[in-house]
Amino acid sequence: MLLPFREGHLELPGDKPVFFIRAQFSPDLDEDWKKVLLCEQTSRSDFEPLESAGFNCVNRIEGKFDLGLCLLTKHKKENYGNVARAWEHLNEGGVLVCVGGNDIGVKSFEKNIRKEIPVVDNLHKNHCRVFWMRKDGESGSAPQEWLEFSKPGEFIPGSGYLTQPGMFCWEKIDKGSEFLVENFPRKIKGAVADFGSGWGYLSRHLLEKYPDLQELDLFEDEHLAIDVSKQNLEKCGLLDRASFHWTDLSGPPPKPNHYHWIVMNPPFHRSARTDVGLGIKFIENAAKCLKRSGSLLLVANRQLPYEKALEEHFVRTERISESIDFKVLLASTVKR
Ligand SMILES: C[S@@+](CC[C@H](N)C(=O)[O-])C[C@H]1O[C@@H](n2cnc3c(N)ncnc32)[C@H](O)[C@@H]1O
Repeated sequence: MLLPFREGHLELPGDKPVFFIRAQFSPDLDEDWKKVLLCEQTSRSDFEPLESAGFNCVNRIEGKFDLGLCLLTKHKKENYGNVARAWEHLNEGGVLVCVGGNDIGVKSFEKNIRKEIPVVDNLHKNHCRVFWMRKDGESGSAPQEWLEFSKPGEFIPGSGYLTQPGMFCWEKIDKGSEFLVENFPRKIKGAVADFGSGWGYLSRHLLEKYPDLQELDLFEDEHLAIDVSKQNLEKCGLLDRASFHWTDLSGPPPKPNHYHWIVMNPPFHRSARTDVGLGIKFIENAAKCLKRSGSLLLVANRQLPYEKALEEHFVRTERISESIDFKVLLASTVKR
């Protein structure tokens, strides 16, 4: 990201404000950058390190800028949406710098951008590519279709759900979650949490199926998903028992010793990498947030090794259902 500035291709911003979409903390962002950067981040786990390092952070940028930075993610359509939105936040003459790893297909992304907006130049180093565009009378604009990817929409045809690129399973309902709903137990009641609630699929079914469920806390790292989950539950008239928490569940347990039930389809990716450790952290936190007599219900791909962690933290673990691809595990009574 900083290479074009270091090599003199682009001028440093001086005192002028700069937006940074999908910002991530890096020690290379020195005090001069810190003074001018407005960091946009909707992932709690990326937001927190920036905030604690003293960066100015928001969920959504506003205003006009002469310089913008955009870190590309593994979500291709989100990237188109972010470029389109970033373009609207640039003053005439402003520059947008995009950077991404080869592993997310940055080269072909740049090629597609060039079809609509002329790219001034690019550099590549360390399996990453940075390219930049200048907004002036001749520089074209991003298609409306790209801008639509930066807003909630009914991207799952016929489902009635709102989703948005940049969140888990925004184009389809997850098969594992569907399998979990089909295998929900007869009774779930009391205080319940949905860990990694996404755009609200499991929560909706929990609230619809279980009238004795008194309160449902939705915990999710991605703010875009929290926003649409609220709208999805509101559309079904299910808001009154639901509360929403923008939380990184790989951090400290949010409500220790509180829940009768926790339900989840735990994540097993961090950025573009598989990370079973994240799912195991979810299980550890669930054990801490459940009452001693509480139960954890989860679905996972069959090959994911969660049983050992469940046996470490719970007195009983049973596989209540399985298919060729998935298993539903029920763990009860926390070891304390
Ligand atoms: C497999 S998805 C399940 C989503 C949703 N429950 C569903 O069934 O569609 C896992 C969810 O966990 C969220 N997640 C990932 N890392 C997280 C973290 N550290 N803290 C909280 N949520 C996280 C993801 O954003 C994603 O929405």
